[in-house]
Amino acid sequence: MKYNFRDNIENMEGYTPGFQPSDPAAIKLNTNENPYAPSPRVFEALGKLSALDMQRYPRVFWDKFREVAARLHGVEPEMIIGGNGADELLTMLVRCCCDSGRPLAYPVLSYSLYPVLATIQDCPKIETPFPADYSLPAKLADTGAALTILCNPNAPTATFISIEDIADLAEEIDGVLAIDEAYVDFSEDNCVRLLKRFNNIIILRSMSKGYSLAGMRFGYGLGAPRIIEAMIKVKDSYNVNVATQAVATAALADQDYFRQNVKKIKIQRDRLTHELRALGFDVPESHTNFLLARTKRLAAREIHEKLTQHNIYIRYFDIEGLQDRLRISVGSAEQNDALLSALQDILK
Ligand SMILES: Cc1ncc(COP(=O)(O)O)c(C=O)c1O
Repeated sequence: MKYNFRDNIENMEGYTPGFQPSDPAAIKLNTNENPYAPSPRVFEALGKLSALDMQRYPRVFWDKFREVAARLHGVEPEMIIGGNGADELLTMLVRCCCDSGRPLAYPVLSYSLYPVLATIQDCPKIETPFPADYSLPAKLADTGAALTILCNPNAPTATFISIEDIADLAEEIDGVLAIDEAYVDFSEDNCVRLLKRFNNIIILRSMSKGYSLAGMRFGYGLGAPRIIEAMIKVKDSYNVNVATQAVATAALADQDYFRQNVKKIKIQRDRLTHELRALGFDVPESHTNFLLARTKRLAAREIHEKLTQHNIYIRYFDIEGLQDRLRISVGSAEQNDALLSALQDILK
């Protein structure tokens, strides 16, 4: 039987996720997960799920989550959309906005999923290089793209663009501006206040990082009701399962726990930055829960491989601009101890 797929699907590579070691003792610092457990309220919420909750379809519009998120961010519930991770929200946006005559624009280097989504949608990609200091690329405002995605703080560079610069971009741009704030829980500022000024922006949040829910898969968007309505048209009918809705709502409501957790990670981030610099790495200030460390003493690929032999996983990207760098998620104090001691050994 002969068959083939659309040319773009036949010819594409697909997104490459980080390695998932099966050994629970492995020190996993390769996918920017949170090293600490989610809020205890998450487990209470899971325990309260009834048989009927499971028998019936989940809420189509994530009502309870929307209420909690609207209160937290000071917006209307209609300005919030729930998704199966921020990744699903990105897919919805590209589906809504882009086609062969309606390009997707984004700066490079940034999140490697953006070009993959453009290829799947078969829309043109407009890639605008960041300047050396990773400030906003001036040309991003002039692309004429139907959708522009700006990751802030940016991955994998961990850098941050000021909210006023993003406001200027929103003012100048034609089309929708999506601000991917997957890592914003670890930075000092965010774009939520821009929602009052602009009707062409949507902010994407992930609960995989600051809220320790990567395995549950939940992300949400905050944006102009018109953008949310368009995204709802293209979403899966019941895109977030009942357990995830309950867990995400409970985690978001427990802001005290969230803040303590984030504080611990920021302390570890500062410590890891300091100690990696002492080991000879060039480590720019991070506004995220990971560091992009540049190695000078040994090839990044080699360090990555040797760490794997110590059962420690970090991320190496064999792509131009990143071949001398390692992306390291900030772990718990104990995980970071193990990483630093293995690095000392390797670099001896
Ligand atoms: C920049 C960026 N955006 C979005 C996501 C997706 O997050 P989620 O786990 O909520 O799908 C990630 C995941 O690592 C990311 O790095």
